[in-house]
Amino acid sequence: MAAIHATAFSPPDAWGRDAFSLQLGFPGVFGLLHPSGGMILMRLAADEAEVLTLAVTPEARRGGIAASLLSEATATAAAMGAKSIFLEVSVTNIAASALYSRAGFIEAGRRPHYYSDNTDALVMRFDPPDHF
Ligand SMILES: CC(C)(COP(=O)(O)OP(=O)(O)OC[C@H]1O[C@@H](n2cnc3c(N)ncnc32)[C@H](O)[C@@H]1OP(=O)(O)O)[C@@H](O)C(=O)NCCC(=O)NCCS
Repeated sequence: MAAIHATAFSPPDAWGRDAFSLQLGFPGVFGLLHPSGGMILMRLAADEAEVLTLAVTPEARRGGIAASLLSEATATAAAMGAKSIFLEVSVTNIAASALYSRAGFIEAGRRPHYYSDNTDALVMRFDPPDHF
């Protein structure tokens, strides 16, 4: 997961092995790996889940890997009891925003100057239907 993450985020924002180990040790946190070079980490607490991070290696992009990881992780969280799934994405991250909108996430709020480069974060939310 750390190796994939390092190809998708610059050094200050890439999570190392220790960060993944720590996160995966917390209750309710689970991750999915795609064999072609993608990963997602989710956290479930009570009936809410959060996408902690998602990355696909540059050479594997636009092949549906992120969409498939998001769909699988969302379905897993819903099966574990999540009624709402949240995530944060930079307003400048066109690729990720398009991915999330296409997956059914809608804007639920905004955190001004949230990221280290001073850009705002959009908070997005998806409520899986009961049959999801
Ligand atoms: C965002 C990211 C995870 C997308 O991964 P991916 O595997 O390329 O995404 P998919 O192929 O599943 O794309 C699904 C849909 O998302 C949208 N999308 C994905 N990349 C896009 C781009 N560069 N520009 C516009 N739309 C894009 C499209 O609607 C796409 O469907 P389409 O290819 O049929 O048009 C990847 O670009 C990445 O790792 N980026 C760096 C890390 C990052 O920003 N993570 C998310 C942090 S919130």
